[in-house]
Amino acid sequence: MTNHKTRLAAFCSGTGSNFQSLYSAINERGLPAEFALCLSNRSECGAISFAEQHGIPTLHLSEKQYDTYEAFAEAMFKALQKHNIKYILLAGYLRKVPESVINAYACKILNIHPALLPKFGGHGMYGINVHKAVLEAGEKESGATVHYVDAEYDKGPILLQRKVPVEPGDTPESLAARVLKCEHRLYPDALEILLTGNIS
Ligand code: GAR
Repeated sequence: MTNHKTRLAAFCSGTGSNFQSLYSAINERGLPAEFALCLSNRSECGAISFAEQHGIPTLHLSEKQYDTYEAFAEAMFKALQKHNIKYILLAGYLRKVPESVINAYACKILNIHPALLPKFGGHGMYGINVHKAVLEAGEKESGATVHYVDAEYDKGPILLQRKVPVEPGDTPESLAARVLKCEHRLYPDALEILLTGNIS
């Protein structure tokens, strides 16, 4: 039988809770896609363990393994080709994707960011730093954004964005937890739009 499932790669650096929520949503919503690769710059992390437990091929790929950045970028591109990947979903991947890969996968790479871009994006804005900055700025709301990845950090076109309130007494950790809960719904919704054009 022909396999019509769109082949996805998850790029992760940590827990991979967004990767896990995407994986579950594919099954629960019956989306015509499958994860065919989980790539991480770390040899051990939650995302890699999850992939191993679910029979998804994994790859530890880091700049440190190569003499030149070009060789690293080439290895990444070859791995994507080998696994016949159509879309790349960055899920807590805290490294820049090489420009050659971004160009080869133009409009085919998504990222999730834990704030309302274009605010609180850019260099150094990842994980808990984002939530600290939101609280320090006295914002009344935050949220999550799924956007296409282009050469500029956190600047690509926005596919989907959802707000959450900042509550009195919030700490970076309590805000992070509220935003992460939102992310776990938002990223699957964005994937569904990417694959089918709408949300069920
Ligand atoms: C998520 O909150 C994601 O939005 C953020 O890292 C966390 C990863 O959690 N990404 C960034 O800050 C990217 N700039 P996860 O590994 O549990 O999905």
